[in-house]
Amino acid sequence: MDTETIMLVSSFQRMIFASHNAAAQAAADLIISTVRAKPDAVLGLATGGTMEPVYARIVAAFKKGAVSFAQVTSFNLDEYVDLPPDHPNSYRSTMDELLFNHIDIDKARTFIPAARSDDSAARADDYERLIAETGGIDLQLLGIGGNGHIGFNEPGSSRDSRTRLVELHQKTIEANARFFDDRPMPSHAITMGIGTILSARNIAVVATGTTKADAVHAATLGGFDAACPASALQEHKHVSWFLDAAAAGQKAAA
Ligand code: F6R
Repeated sequence: MDTETIMLVSSFQRMIFASHNAAAQAAADLIISTVRAKPDAVLGLATGGTMEPVYARIVAAFKKGAVSFAQVTSFNLDEYVDLPPDHPNSYRSTMDELLFNHIDIDKARTFIPAARSDDSAARADDYERLIAETGGIDLQLLGIGGNGHIGFNEPGSSRDSRTRLVELHQKTIEANARFFDDRPMPSHAITMGIGTILSARNIAVVATGTTKADAVHAATLGGFDAACPASALQEHKHVSWFLDAAAAGQKAAA
Protein backbone atom coordinates (compact mmCIF):
# COMPACT_ATOMS: atom_id res chain seq x y z
CA MET A 1 0.00 0.00 0.00
CA ASP A 2 1.53 3.34 -0.95
CA THR A 3 1.37 6.39 1.28
CA GLU A 4 -1.36 8.08 -0.79
CA THR A 5 -3.58 5.06 -0.21
CA ILE A 6 -2.74 5.07 3.49
CA MET A 7 -3.84 8.68 3.78
CA LEU A 8 -7.18 8.02 2.13
CA VAL A 9 -8.26 4.82 3.83
CA SER A 10 -6.71 4.92 7.26
CA SER A 11 -8.61 5.61 10.40
CA PHE A 12 -5.64 4.69 12.58
CA GLN A 13 -2.26 3.53 11.35
CA ARG A 14 0.56 2.51 13.66
CA MET A 15 3.63 1.83 11.54
CA ILE A 16 6.86 0.59 13.05
CA PHE A 17 10.13 1.16 11.17
CA ALA A 18 13.64 -0.21 11.62
CA SER A 19 15.18 3.19 12.43
CA HIS A 20 14.49 6.87 13.02
CA ASN A 21 15.64 7.55 9.46
CA ALA A 22 13.23 5.00 7.99
CA ALA A 23 10.33 6.47 9.97
CA ALA A 24 11.39 9.96 8.86
CA GLN A 25 11.52 8.86 5.23
CA ALA A 26 8.01 7.42 5.42
CA ALA A 27 6.65 10.60 7.05
CA ALA A 28 8.42 12.72 4.41
CA ASP A 29 6.90 10.50 1.68
CA LEU A 30 3.43 11.14 3.09
CA ILE A 31 3.99 14.91 3.04
CA ILE A 32 5.40 14.76 -0.49
CA SER A 33 2.52 12.64 -1.78
CA THR A 34 0.04 15.00 -0.12
CA VAL A 35 1.56 17.99 -1.92
CA ARG A 36 1.78 16.15 -5.24
CA ALA A 37 -1.90 15.23 -4.98
CA LYS A 38 -2.88 18.76 -3.88
CA PRO A 39 -0.23 21.34 -4.91
CA ASP A 40 -1.90 24.10 -2.82
CA ALA A 41 -2.09 21.89 0.29
CA VAL A 42 -2.07 23.49 3.73
CA LEU A 43 0.54 21.80 5.90
CA GLY A 44 0.84 21.95 9.67
CA LEU A 45 4.51 21.69 10.62
CA ALA A 46 6.46 20.90 13.78
CA THR A 47 9.98 21.51 15.03
CA GLY A 48 12.17 19.34 17.26
CA GLY A 49 14.96 16.87 16.73
CA THR A 50 12.56 14.20 15.46
CA MET A 51 11.68 16.37 12.47
CA GLU A 52 15.22 17.12 11.30
CA PRO A 53 15.57 13.98 9.14
CA VAL A 54 11.99 14.43 7.89
CA TYR A 55 12.83 17.90 6.57
CA ALA A 56 16.20 16.72 5.19
CA ARG A 57 14.35 14.14 3.12
CA ILE A 58 11.81 16.65 1.86
CA VAL A 59 14.65 18.97 0.80
CA ALA A 60 16.36 16.05 -0.98
CA ALA A 61 13.13 15.21 -2.86
CA PHE A 62 12.68 18.87 -3.84
CA LYS A 63 16.27 19.06 -5.13
CA LYS A 64 15.61 16.00 -7.27
CA GLY A 65 12.59 17.76 -8.78
CA ALA A 66 10.14 15.30 -7.21
CA VAL A 67 7.88 17.94 -5.62
CA SER A 68 7.19 21.67 -5.63
CA PHE A 69 5.96 23.69 -2.65
CA ALA A 70 5.33 26.85 -4.69
CA GLN A 71 1.61 26.88 -3.87
CA VAL A 72 1.77 25.38 -0.39
CA THR A 73 0.78 27.26 2.77
CA SER A 74 2.21 26.16 6.11
CA PHE A 75 1.34 26.75 9.75
CA ASN A 76 3.78 25.81 12.45
CA LEU A 77 2.47 24.46 15.71
CA ASP A 78 4.21 26.74 18.13
CA GLU A 79 6.79 29.39 18.94
CA TYR A 80 8.52 30.70 22.04
CA VAL A 81 7.08 33.95 23.36
CA ASP A 82 9.26 37.08 23.61
CA LEU A 83 12.03 35.49 21.54
CA PRO A 84 12.96 37.60 18.49
CA PRO A 85 12.23 35.73 15.23
CA ASP A 86 15.86 36.10 14.15
CA HIS A 87 17.16 34.45 17.34
CA PRO A 88 18.87 31.20 16.24
CA ASN A 89 16.60 29.15 18.54
CA SER A 90 13.33 30.69 17.42
CA TYR A 91 11.19 28.23 15.53
CA ARG A 92 11.15 30.74 12.64
CA SER A 93 14.95 30.52 12.34
CA THR A 94 14.84 26.75 12.80
CA MET A 95 12.26 26.25 10.06
CA ASP A 96 14.10 28.59 7.68
CA GLU A 97 17.34 26.74 8.24
CA LEU A 98 15.96 23.19 8.06
CA LEU A 99 13.35 23.59 5.34
CA PHE A 100 12.07 26.91 4.02
CA ASN A 101 15.45 28.24 2.77
CA HIS A 102 15.97 25.09 0.70
CA ILE A 103 12.63 24.63 -1.09
CA ASP A 104 10.49 26.82 -3.35
CA ILE A 105 7.83 27.66 -0.75
CA ASP A 106 6.71 31.31 -0.67
CA LYS A 107 7.92 32.43 2.77
CA ALA A 108 5.03 34.91 2.94
CA ARG A 109 2.79 31.85 3.27
CA THR A 110 4.81 30.15 6.02
CA PHE A 111 3.10 31.08 9.26
CA ILE A 112 4.48 30.71 12.76
CA PRO A 113 2.45 31.86 15.79
CA ALA A 114 4.90 34.58 16.89
CA ALA A 115 3.89 36.66 19.88
CA ARG A 116 5.04 38.81 22.75
CA SER A 117 3.54 38.23 26.16
CA ASP A 118 1.61 41.52 25.88
CA ASP A 119 -0.13 40.75 22.56
CA SER A 120 -0.44 36.97 22.68
CA ALA A 121 -4.25 36.77 23.00
CA ALA A 122 -4.83 38.86 19.86
CA ARG A 123 -2.07 37.02 17.98
CA ALA A 124 -3.56 33.66 18.95
CA ASP A 125 -7.01 34.67 17.67
CA ASP A 126 -5.43 35.96 14.43
CA TYR A 127 -3.67 32.61 13.97
CA GLU A 128 -6.89 30.63 14.36
CA ARG A 129 -8.66 32.97 11.93
CA LEU A 130 -5.87 32.65 9.38
CA ILE A 131 -5.95 28.85 9.51
CA ALA A 132 -9.73 28.91 9.00
CA GLU A 133 -9.44 31.40 6.12
CA THR A 134 -7.04 29.14 4.22
CA GLY A 135 -9.61 26.34 4.45
CA GLY A 136 -7.99 24.40 7.30
CA ILE A 137 -4.95 22.15 7.55
CA ASP A 138 -4.78 19.17 5.18
CA LEU A 139 -1.96 17.36 6.94
CA GLN A 140 -0.61 18.17 10.41
CA LEU A 141 2.84 16.82 11.24
CA LEU A 142 3.44 16.20 14.96
CA GLY A 143 6.19 15.08 17.29
CA ILE A 144 5.41 14.05 20.85
CA GLY A 145 7.08 15.12 24.09
CA GLY A 146 8.29 12.54 26.61
CA ASN A 147 5.46 13.90 28.80
CA GLY A 148 2.89 13.33 26.04
CA HIS A 149 2.69 16.94 24.88
CA ILE A 150 1.74 17.79 21.30
CA GLY A 151 2.70 21.26 20.16
CA PHE A 152 3.22 22.88 23.55
CA ASN A 153 -0.03 21.48 24.93
CA GLU A 154 1.36 20.27 28.20
CA PRO A 155 -0.32 17.72 30.51
CA GLY A 156 -3.60 19.15 31.80
CA SER A 157 -4.42 20.92 28.51
CA SER A 158 -8.04 20.76 27.54
CA ARG A 159 -9.18 18.61 24.64
CA ASP A 160 -10.92 21.65 23.12
CA SER A 161 -8.07 24.13 23.57
CA ARG A 162 -7.24 26.48 20.71
CA THR A 163 -4.16 28.59 19.93
CA ARG A 164 -3.08 30.38 23.12
CA LEU A 165 -0.28 31.43 25.44
CA VAL A 166 0.99 28.57 27.62
CA GLU A 167 3.53 28.15 30.38
CA LEU A 168 6.04 25.44 29.58
CA HIS A 169 6.20 22.34 31.75
CA GLN A 170 9.38 21.85 33.78
CA LYS A 171 10.18 18.68 31.77
CA THR A 172 9.93 20.64 28.50
CA ILE A 173 12.24 23.34 29.85
CA GLU A 174 14.72 20.64 30.92
CA ALA A 175 14.49 18.95 27.49
CA ASN A 176 15.03 22.15 25.48
CA ALA A 177 17.29 24.28 27.74
CA ARG A 178 20.37 22.72 26.13
CA PHE A 179 19.69 24.76 22.98
CA PHE A 180 19.90 28.10 24.84
CA ASP A 181 23.46 29.04 25.71
CA ASP A 182 23.22 32.85 25.29
CA ARG A 183 20.08 33.51 27.34
CA PRO A 184 17.65 31.68 29.62
CA MET A 185 15.20 29.35 27.93
CA PRO A 186 11.80 31.09 27.50
CA SER A 187 9.22 29.99 30.07
CA HIS A 188 6.19 30.61 27.81
CA ALA A 189 5.16 29.77 24.28
CA ILE A 190 2.23 30.23 21.97
CA THR A 191 0.84 26.97 20.64
CA MET A 192 -1.98 25.65 18.53
CA GLY A 193 -4.42 23.98 20.91
CA ILE A 194 -5.41 20.33 20.99
CA GLY A 195 -8.71 21.33 19.39
CA THR A 196 -6.82 23.19 16.65
CA ILE A 197 -4.71 20.10 15.95
CA LEU A 198 -7.77 17.83 15.88
CA SER A 199 -9.33 20.12 13.26
CA ALA A 200 -6.67 19.08 10.73
CA ARG A 201 -7.98 16.65 8.11
CA ASN A 202 -5.05 14.25 8.49
CA ILE A 203 -2.41 13.90 11.19
CA ALA A 204 1.03 12.25 11.01
CA VAL A 205 2.90 11.70 14.28
CA VAL A 206 6.58 10.77 14.29
CA ALA A 207 8.09 9.37 17.49
CA THR A 208 11.41 7.61 17.94
CA GLY A 209 13.57 6.44 20.82
CA THR A 210 12.93 4.89 24.20
CA THR A 211 12.22 8.28 25.84
CA LYS A 212 8.98 8.42 23.86
CA ALA A 213 7.77 4.86 24.53
CA ASP A 214 5.63 5.61 27.61
CA ALA A 215 4.05 8.66 25.97
CA VAL A 216 3.27 6.71 22.78
CA HIS A 217 1.73 3.91 24.83
CA ALA A 218 -0.47 6.33 26.80
CA ALA A 219 -1.35 8.22 23.62
CA THR A 220 -2.55 5.22 21.66
CA LEU A 221 -4.48 3.22 24.27
CA GLY A 222 -7.26 3.87 26.73
CA GLY A 223 -9.02 7.00 25.49
CA PHE A 224 -8.38 10.65 26.29
CA ASP A 225 -6.55 11.41 29.52
CA ALA A 226 -5.44 15.03 30.06
CA ALA A 227 -2.27 13.67 31.70
CA CYS A 228 -1.18 12.68 28.16
CA PRO A 229 -2.36 15.39 25.72
CA ALA A 230 -1.47 13.21 22.70
CA SER A 231 -4.14 10.71 23.80
CA ALA A 232 -6.68 13.13 22.29
CA LEU A 233 -5.46 11.92 18.88
CA GLN A 234 -7.49 8.74 19.48
CA GLU A 235 -10.55 10.88 18.76
CA HIS A 236 -9.31 11.78 15.26
CA LYS A 237 -10.31 9.67 12.26
CA HIS A 238 -7.11 9.93 10.20
CA VAL A 239 -3.98 9.59 12.30
CA SER A 240 -0.82 7.83 11.14
CA TRP A 241 1.90 7.02 13.68
CA PHE A 242 5.46 6.65 12.35
CA LEU A 243 7.46 4.89 15.07
CA ASP A 244 10.74 3.13 15.48
CA ALA A 245 10.83 -0.07 17.53
CA ALA A 246 12.01 1.73 20.68
CA ALA A 247 9.17 4.27 20.66
CA ALA A 248 6.74 1.43 19.92
CA GLY A 249 7.92 -0.23 23.15
CA GLN A 250 9.60 -3.17 21.46
CA LYS A 251 12.76 -4.47 23.08
CA ALA A 252 15.88 -4.53 20.89
CA ALA A 253 16.96 -8.03 19.79
CA ALA A 254 19.77 -9.41 22.00
C1 F6R B 1 7.68 21.30 18.31
C2 F6R B 1 6.65 20.70 19.12
C3 F6R B 1 6.93 19.68 20.17
C4 F6R B 1 7.88 18.58 19.71
C5 F6R B 1 8.15 17.60 20.84
C6 F6R B 1 9.16 16.55 20.46
O1 F6R B 1 7.13 22.21 17.37
O2 F6R B 1 5.54 21.07 18.95
O3 F6R B 1 5.70 19.13 20.58
O4 F6R B 1 7.33 17.91 18.61
O5 F6R B 1 8.61 18.29 21.97
O6 F6R B 1 10.41 17.17 20.32
P1 F6R B 1 11.68 16.33 19.83
O7 F6R B 1 11.41 15.93 18.43
O8 F6R B 1 12.83 17.31 19.93
O9 F6R B 1 11.80 15.17 20.74
